Amino acid sequence: MTTTGTSTSTNRSGKGSFRRMDESSAEQWAEIGALTAQRQARVADRVLDMLQALGDITDGFAVDQLQHCLQTATRAEESGAEGEMVVAALCHDIGKYVSVPNHPRIAAEILRPYVSDEVFHVVSTHQDFQGRHYYHYFGGDPEARQRYRDEPWFDLGERFADEWDQASFDPGYPTQPLSHFEPLVRELFARPRSL
Ligand SMILES: [Fe+2]
Repeated sequence: MTTTGTSTSTNRSGKGSFRRMDESSAEQWAEIGALTAQRQARVADRVLDMLQALGDITDGFAVDQLQHCLQTATRAEESGAEGEMVVAALCHDIGKYVSVPNHPRIAAEILRPYVSDEVFHVVSTHQDFQGRHYYHYFGGDPEARQRYRDEPWFDLGERFADEWDQASFDPGYPTQPLSHFEPLVRELFARPRSL
């Protein structure tokens, strides 16, 4: 990246930046850091896009995955859950946009820089809590959740799964639309707490 006064637009397009990291400078990283922070709002845009796309996935359930996520978040909000837990409830199955088998961990990693460790672990392990109702149909242990029994977030994991997640496949439940949660989503993803 050049430091001449005519380089701003070039720098912003990245054309003046390094070709190899081992040739990079503090000024170049300052520019990249500033632009990345400036464009942080795109994270919420991507999350909202992925949630919208869950509307195309039903796979035999009574509601599509967007409706399931909206209903889970609606129940969490109605129960008085904190804002980050409501957004986590909204996003807990967002990993299904990419891959169902490891969807809890994909969702948890998307949330990780923006939520508490407790909420991260609840999302990351939620399938094992849900397993009480179906793991035995696939040869698994329906009480897989017990391996987390001593974790400080175990009670929240049970509340998430038993009160909000497993109950949210009801096409007749009065469920909030995605637009209702959009301000909360934008607020949460605007400020990463960690890398
Ligand atoms: Fe779910």
